[in-house]
Amino acid sequence: MSNKISSVRGMNDLLPPESAKWHFFESRCRAVLARHGYAEIRTPVVESTALFARGIGEATDIVEKEMYTFLDRGDRSLTMRPEMTASCARAYVEHSLHMREPVTRWFYIAPMFRYERMQTGRYRQFWQVGAEAYGIAEPTIDAEQIAMLHALYLELGVPGLSVSVNSVGAGDDRPRYRQALVDYLSPHRAALCADCQRRLETNPLRILDCKVPTCKTIIAGAPSILDHLGAESRGHFEAVQAALAVLGVPFHVDPSAVRGLDYYTGTVFELVSSSSELGTQNVLAGGGRYDTLIERFGGPAIPAVGWALGIERAILTIPGDAATLAGGPVLYIAALGKAARLEAMRLAAAVRATGAWVEIEHREVGMKAQFKRADKLGARFTLAIGDDELGSGRGQIRDMRGGQQTELALADIATVIARLTAA
Ligand code: HAM
Repeated sequence: MSNKISSVRGMNDLLPPESAKWHFFESRCRAVLARHGYAEIRTPVVESTALFARGIGEATDIVEKEMYTFLDRGDRSLTMRPEMTASCARAYVEHSLHMREPVTRWFYIAPMFRYERMQTGRYRQFWQVGAEAYGIAEPTIDAEQIAMLHALYLELGVPGLSVSVNSVGAGDDRPRYRQALVDYLSPHRAALCADCQRRLETNPLRILDCKVPTCKTIIAGAPSILDHLGAESRGHFEAVQAALAVLGVPFHVDPSAVRGLDYYTGTVFELVSSSSELGTQNVLAGGGRYDTLIERFGGPAIPAVGWALGIERAILTIPGDAATLAGGPVLYIAALGKAARLEAMRLAAAVRATGAWVEIEHREVGMKAQFKRADKLGARFTLAIGDDELGSGRGQIRDMRGGQQTELALADIATVIARLTAA
C-alpha cells in the first residue's frame, strides 16, 4: 500500500502560476467592489449548525445533504460554512450594525464547503466572492448589484454572459404560490422523480429547478410565480427591470429561476455563462433580496440584498494565460563562485528594496545553466558577476528582449534598473 496522502476529494490545491490568475481576478473584484462602497468582512469558517439550518432553510439541498457538520470536543454541533450570507447576517446582528450605520455594504473573498457530487466547476471546497448590502429597501440597489456583477465580468473580457432575473415574492405571495404549485403538481405526483415527490411535501418550489427530463416536462406547464405576486412585489420587480434597462444591462425574466436557498424574498438573479469550459455548471453567480433574515436572527427588520460568485468557475471563463499574468523577475543575477554569489545577494537586496522582483542562483551551477534559467523565468534583465566584475566594481546589464547591453557601476544598480524599467 502506498504511504502517500492525497488531498481530500473535491478540495484542490492552487499552485503557481495558476494562483496568478486568481490574484488578478481577486484584485479586479476588490477594485470593482471598492468603487461601489463595499468593505471587506471576514468571519470564521466554522459556525453553529443552527445558523445555517435556520438561515438557509431545513428543507434545502444544502442543509439536508451537503453540509460538513461535526461535533466538537464539547459536543456542540458545528458546520463548516457552505455560504456566507448567513454568517454575515449573524455578524450584522451580533455587532448591532444598524446602530452604527443606516447602510452597510460588505464583501468577502472566502472558501466555502459543500458535500456535493463533483464535476468541472463543482467542488467540495470552493471559493466565493460575495457582496451584501443592508438597510436599503429600494429596488435600485438590486439593479445596482446586478449591474456591478455584470460589469465585473465584462471588464474581464468574459464572453457569452446572460443575466436572468425573477421574483420569488415576499410576504404571503410565496405561500399562495406554493399552494398553486402543489395543486398543479399533485395529480402528476407519480410521474415525478423520487426527490421531487419528497420536495412536494417539504419544499415544492425546488421542483422548478429539477433537471430530470420527466420532471422538466411537467414543470413546463406549471403556474408561474410571476402571476402570483402581490402589488408590492410586482411593483418592486418592475422597478428593478426598469433600472436595469436604464443601466444598459441585458437581462431576461426567468420565472423558473428560484435559487436553492430559502431566505430570498422578492428579486432573485443569476449570471449564466455560455462558455463550453463550464458544461452544466454554468451559473457564474447568484443572489437576491433577503429582507427577513436579519429579523429571523434576532435583529431589527433590516432589508438586505446580495450575491456571490464562484471563483473556480470565473477562472475557467476568463481569457488569458496564467503564466503570462504571473510575469517574471525584473532582474536575474548570475554569479560564479562564493564571493560573486555574496555580491549578487547584496545587489539583489538593493534592487528588491526598490520593489522589484530579483532572482539569483544559490546553487553551484555554470553560467550557461544560469542564463537558461533566467530565460525560463522570463527575466527582463540579466547581470553576470564573475571575477572581473568583482575586481572592477563594474558590470553589464543585458536586456533579454532586445539584447542591448548597459554598462554600469555595480554600486548604482538600483537606480540603473529603475531607469531601464521606466524607459
Ligand atoms: P449560491 O447560488 O449557492 O448562492 O452560490 C453562488 C455561486 O457560488 C454559484 O453561482 C457558483 O458560481 C458558486 N458555487 C456554488 N456551489 C459551488 C460548488 N460546489 N463548486 C464551485 N462553485 C460553487 C449563495 O451561496 C448565496 N449565499 C448568494 C447570496 C449572497 N445571496 C445573497 N447574498
